[in-house]
Amino acid sequence: MWESDAGLLARVDRDKMPRHVAIIMDGNGRWANCRGLLRSAGHTAGVKTLKNILKTAVNLKLEALTVYAFSTENWKRPPSEVDFLMHLFSDYLEREKLEMHQNNVRIKFLGRMEDFAPSLQKLMRDSVELMKNNTGVKFNVAADYGGQDEIIRAAQKLACRVKAGELLPENISAQLFEDELDTAGQPPVDLMIRTSGDLRVSNFLLWQAAYAEFWFTDTPWPEFTPEEFVDALIDFGKRTRRFGALSN
Ligand code: IPE
Ligand code: IPE
Ligand code: MG
Repeated sequence: MWESDAGLLARVDRDKMPRHVAIIMDGNGRWANCRGLLRSAGHTAGVKTLKNILKTAVNLKLEALTVYAFSTENWKRPPSEVDFLMHLFSDYLEREKLEMHQNNVRIKFLGRMEDFAPSLQKLMRDSVELMKNNTGVKFNVAADYGGQDEIIRAAQKLACRVKAGELLPENISAQLFEDELDTAGQPPVDLMIRTSGDLRVSNFLLWQAAYAEFWFTDTPWPEFTPEEFVDALIDFGKRTRRFGALSN
């Protein structure tokens, strides 16, 4: 089992925890460039941060953690960087899957998957299979993921059901739509964190973050710590969420 930092965990009021936290893990490249390193060194450092944050999420018994690993737009990067990211992703999964399993993590992938190498697709499927009965943190890794692409895929699946005569267009509800998303069955995003200073959503979880609270930090992802993660959770606990109604 992963050891826990009791002092850190004690800072969080369990009654005010978000159920679902999403993170845009940004700034690996800039972090590396500032240090005279290659962008790839930033991505490698970022993997270490991810491991620490997942560990903290496990120890806090967070219900769901979704991280943005590779967007549908990230294919526009130089082939050498895309290739590096693919290898890093597969090394990470290969190395960490057993330990995640031992910590009761249930991994899931959000996104398209089919443009990845067959060996990586197999590793992804095997990891999901290994952890499918786990009951701890729902750990969603968004890879070749775009919020618009996910919504289009959901619309296509519903259109097929309408075409097959199984569904009437007027019966398409928010619930039926959600059931076709990659996050089906999971709670909506309560808190969205973005590291490294940019104030945008970059096509992440467009449907699921409809009422998310946002938390931005200038800290680049390789320097993001469990302490700062806990700061974000505590700040979330102080927010008033009205969901369009009036606060009492
Ligand atoms: C985030 O860091 C990781 C991925 C998008 C894969 P970046 O690679 O975007 O780093 P910056 O934003 O260029 O610094
Ligand atoms: C978002 O970061 C995608 C991931 C963190 C995987 P980007 O660095 O790709 O986003 P933009 O290009 O700054 O919007
Ligand atoms: Mg970036």
